[in-house]
Amino acid sequence: MSDIKVLALVGSLRAESINRRIAELAADVAPDGVAVTVFEGLADLPFYNEDIDDAVNTAVDHAPDPVVALRAAAADADAALVVTPEYNGSVPAVIKNAIDWLSRPFGNGALKDKPLAVIGGSLGRFGGVWAHDETRKSFGIAGARVIDVKLSVPFQTLEGKAPADHAELSANVRDVVGKLVAEVS
Ligand SMILES: Cc1cc2nc3c(=O)[nH]c(=O)nc-3n(C[C@H](O)[C@H](O)[C@H](O)COP(=O)(O)O)c2cc1C
Repeated sequence: MSDIKVLALVGSLRAESINRRIAELAADVAPDGVAVTVFEGLADLPFYNEDIDDAVNTAVDHAPDPVVALRAAAADADAALVVTPEYNGSVPAVIKNAIDWLSRPFGNGALKDKPLAVIGGSLGRFGGVWAHDETRKSFGIAGARVIDVKLSVPFQTLEGKAPADHAELSANVRDVVGKLVAEVS
């Protein structure tokens, strides 16, 4: 049987991103038979623009190449995991932009009805919970089947450790991935 594929979208583009490390941790702790792959092209997406979104009007998607790559990765995935910090009390622009591209064609986006979980961490004492709640809301409106798991990590709780070296976080991320793939039909 082929692996269950989980597409990971990371909301921070910086090289030393802790959220990226959490997404990589998800790949490491995923159960056998589950492949978690971080999508590498979020920085290449243009801002959403209906004028360049050919999938809205045509059967074949002639949107810009980075958009076609994102939609293809989403179409190929069985589930999605968003790992994001909070920026100014909300969803980082790279994630919101990806949501907008993935929401079209309207009613038939590439993540339509696929299970999706939102986790991540931030410096603030609530761990980015506003961003996580808003990402859930927006991806739900965009057509994904957002599952009810919550993991918003205030970075001070990591006590300076890398995510992979933090036993409780590793267990929590393993739990999230397990619950996510349990939703794959
Ligand atoms: C533009 C910007 C806005 C931010 N706004 C918030 C915020 O609203 N809440 C918060 O907890 N942290 C905020 N932060 C701090 C981030 O939590 C911190 O930069 C974190 O390390 C980002 O995650 P990363 O390590 O994956 O890049 C902000 C950071 C930036 C750069």
